[in-house]
Order: sequence, then structure tokens, then C-alpha cells
Amino acid sequence: MSFNVYVTRQIPEEGINILKKFCQTVEVNPHDRPLTYDELFRQVKGRDAILTMLSDRVDAALMNEAKSLKVIANYAVGYDNVDVKAATTKGIIVTNTPGVLTDSTADMAWALLFSIARRIVEGDKLTRAGKFIGWAPLMLLGGDFIGKTLGIIGAGRIGTAMAMRSRGWYMKVFYTTHSNRNAVLEEMLGAKRVDLETLLKESDFISIHTSLSEKTRHLIGAKELSLMKNTAYLINTARGAVIDEAALVNALKNRQIAGAGLDVYEEEPRLKPGLAELDNVVLAPHLGSATIETRTKMAVMAAENIIAVLNKQKPKNCVNPEALT
Ligand code: GLV
Ligand code: GLV
Repeated sequence: MSFNVYVTRQIPEEGINILKKFCQTVEVNPHDRPLTYDELFRQVKGRDAILTMLSDRVDAALMNEAKSLKVIANYAVGYDNVDVKAATTKGIIVTNTPGVLTDSTADMAWALLFSIARRIVEGDKLTRAGKFIGWAPLMLLGGDFIGKTLGIIGAGRIGTAMAMRSRGWYMKVFYTTHSNRNAVLEEMLGAKRVDLETLLKESDFISIHTSLSEKTRHLIGAKELSLMKNTAYLINTARGAVIDEAALVNALKNRQIAGAGLDVYEEEPRLKPGLAELDNVVLAPHLGSATIETRTKMAVMAAENIIAVLNKQKPKNCVNPEALT
């Protein structure tokens, strides 16, 4: 059999090499930028598999154009960019890359938390600008972590890993989850499952780890932000649209909350007006899984998922198993 695969962005070569061993044609987007929707649309015809990024919109119209498509391997744990329902209807398998990016994303949440609460980015700017004229007792004072309360919104794999890291600071942990109680967090940290309102009111640091769905879109809006302490910090490494970003700009501007650390944006890569002008927010360009080790594992995982489907086997990371039947 001869297989034809399209990869929408250059990824670590380990993944490409696996694809090349098994497939006749492996074509990679040569540009150092995402494809536009139209460009991707023109690429999918005749492909058996596409390896897509979270920045690619993979919708039903695109799938209609791709008559021979058998698998969409998304290079991310989140797959809100893919119309999974449409794929299932058409018998197209969708896969993601769970597990391998859990620790690097949890680390990123902590990196943002430290950066904002200890004002590292502000301090860096000041130092580079030559404004560091000597140690000062009241310069750039931030917040402590020890014994504080951490609120985890969405205690899945990544939320759990984020919370486990709080042991170093003896933090009290509250969490919300849409599924069963999190036995690991409860037994290892004495964490408590609470409703969102309690979590927002009680936490000093809140970290978002839910997937994006119609249920979680704008889960954190003006009302929720108003429930937070004005000394509290909000961290988001999940998906931007879980927060109403315009409401967050207002809350930060009015010092309703102390600060935010963001890795994701509602209309990525665009930022809501006003966000970039604020001092009390740290802005990262969606780097949650951006380590050499993790991105390599994701590339291998996505490639192996494609090859499994083309070999008519069940891929390890299928998000729509109904499509297999
Ligand atoms: C990154 O945001 C991912 O979903 O893997
Ligand atoms: C979500 O898929 C997670 O890994 O937390």
C-alpha cells in the first residue's frame, strides 16, 4: 500500500522519520508559520493522514475535501480545533498526544506563577533599562507561596501534576473537576473538591487546566473574577477562551486581582486590547509543552498514531473510538 501524509508544521525529525519509514509520501509545510485555512484546504486532497497543530482549524468542510482521509493526528493534548463529531460521522479517526506533555505543562504553570508573583518580568525590564540603581526595601514586592491556598480548576492529568508540585510549599489545595473525585490529590495532599465559587473565593493562586468545550468557554468571566481575592493570582496554561479575556483585562486594570500569568489567549495569537499594556500580567506565547524532550515525544506519538490507523490497528491515543467501528 502506498500512503500519503501531510504534516502542517515542521516538527522534531524523530516523528517525520517514523512516518517516512511507512509512507510513500510525507510532505511537510515548508513555511515557518501556520498555514492559512485556505492553504490547508488545498493540501488535504488525496491525503490518507494529516498531522495537525492546535492552530489549524480542522472542520467538516475540510474533511469533505479530503475524501481519502483516515486519520487526523493532532499534535497536542487538546483537540478543540478539530470537529471531532464531523470526523466520527465520516469514520475519520482523531488522535491526540496525552500524557507526554503533562509534566512540562505543569512546570509552565508554576513558571508563570513564580514569574508573576515574584515580578520577574517587571524586574528584568527594569534591570535592562538601567533603572536598577541599588537594592531597595520596597522595590517590586510580590507574594509568598508558603502555606497559601492553591485552586486547581480541572484536576485532570495536568491539573494533578500542577497540584502535586505544591507540596514544596505546604499549600492547601482546592480543586474542581467534571469527573470523579481525584483520589491522588485527596490522599496525597489532603486536597478538597469544592464548587467553583468556593475555589474562587478562597484561593490565593488559581490555575486553569480544563479542556475547552461549550461548557468551559468563558467559565471565568467578570462575575467569577469579582469573587477572587484582590491579592490572588490567576494562571492559564489550558485554552485562552476558558477566560473571558476582555473581563480579565478589566479586572487586572482595576486591581480586582493581583495578577495573571497567561500562556494561552482567547483569539490566539491576537491579544485583547489593553492586555499587553498591563504590568500585572506575564504573557507567554503558548509554551506549555515546549521542551525538547516533550516535543520529541509528541512527534513520535502522533506519527505512531497515524501508522497504527493506516495499518488498520487501534491507535493508542484515539479520542473518537466510535469512529473505529
Ligand atoms: C497544548 O496546548 C496542547 O493541547 O497540547
Ligand atoms: C487533559 O487532557 C490533561 O491531561 O489534563
